[in-house]
Amino acid sequence: MDSCNEDHAFKLLEAQTHVYNQGLCFIKSMSLKCAIDLCISDVIHKYGKPMPLSKLIASLPIHPSKTDGISRLMRVLTISGFFSQHNQTEKELEVSYALTDASRLLLKDHAFSMTPLLQVMLDPILVNPWHQFSTWFTNEDPSPFHTQNGMTFWDYASREPKLNNLFNDAMTSDTRLVSSVVVEKCKGVLEGVDHGTLVDVGGGTGTMAKAIAKSFPKVKCIVFDLPHVVAGFKGTQNIDYVGGDMFEDIPPADCIVLKCILHNWMDEKCLKILKKCKEAITSKDKEGKVIIIEVVLGNDKGDKKSVETKLFYDMEMMALVTGKERNEKDWAKLIFSAGFKNYKIIPVLGLKSLIEVYP
Ligand SMILES: C[S@@+](CC[C@H](N)C(=O)[O-])C[C@H]1O[C@@H](n2cnc3c(N)ncnc32)[C@H](O)[C@@H]1O
Repeated sequence: MDSCNEDHAFKLLEAQTHVYNQGLCFIKSMSLKCAIDLCISDVIHKYGKPMPLSKLIASLPIHPSKTDGISRLMRVLTISGFFSQHNQTEKELEVSYALTDASRLLLKDHAFSMTPLLQVMLDPILVNPWHQFSTWFTNEDPSPFHTQNGMTFWDYASREPKLNNLFNDAMTSDTRLVSSVVVEKCKGVLEGVDHGTLVDVGGGTGTMAKAIAKSFPKVKCIVFDLPHVVAGFKGTQNIDYVGGDMFEDIPPADCIVLKCILHNWMDEKCLKILKKCKEAITSKDKEGKVIIIEVVLGNDKGDKKSVETKLFYDMEMMALVTGKERNEKDWAKLIFSAGFKNYKIIPVLGLKSLIEVYP
């Protein structure tokens, strides 16, 4: 082989590796699902120090014929950043595994555990629609989820308690971390409302409202969501649960929170929601505002993982609902078209930003 051909062959093989790698990328997600199902993080955490493989295997609820599979699974989870592998020493011949920051977020008792989020994200109900993606491009269905299930995600959740519960638990786990940062780092945003009223539109199980009410006990909060979501939740002295449809009517308040709501909908629907919010804002002074908590595409300061994750999130919105992620220009267009005067983006929530919108 001359050097020109060698170069060509090398490039071809490199490209082949890339294609293999991308084609098998789902294995990272599915290995993670397996780790969650087998509670591998919790088992290692309970051990209290790097756990030898044989001890890990002995602690897992697996069939004796499957022990070899655990070392292979752990290799992939280690390369994906979920566990660190401790080198064998002369004394200790066997490999041991310890938790990383990422696998600590899988612990069931962690205050910000992401396990509920992964449980819904990797459930067949949310994964199967991906097999319909190309079909959906050729038909008139609103989403691949609709092509798979014959109804919208929200209708399915209202009929299927399994999805309703999995989804609400997932959102609760996401909002726990975000709400704790909001009340700690964005106190100023809420200070104007500290004696007023606040509605969390599409507020789910009330995680955000609970965090705000705890830090600002004089705020009167309403968690507003679809009737099947708020059914069974009891209010407290300063939190009420109200069932309804945000496209019809939003309870009046000084401040309205929209966390992970607008990215579920196309622009026309978002405009409707934002106009309803504007009508619902009672205070036109400095405390009157909408607080949007969402992804802003393009403000990642060169962080490749953040860019990629936001694009994955955008695709997830296309697969499951009729929504999308938006860049600042898209947000500004929506906000001004709904009649608001100004906005400010505060990028302090990791993948998401807080957008203050003034009437
Ligand atoms: C992605 S979840 C966000 C939940 C919560 N804001 C959070 O971030 O934890 C979207 C929420 O919008 C609610 N929702 C969907 N359609 C709605 C409607 N027409 N009126 C009120 N809420 C709605 C869903 O039930 C769900 O709780």
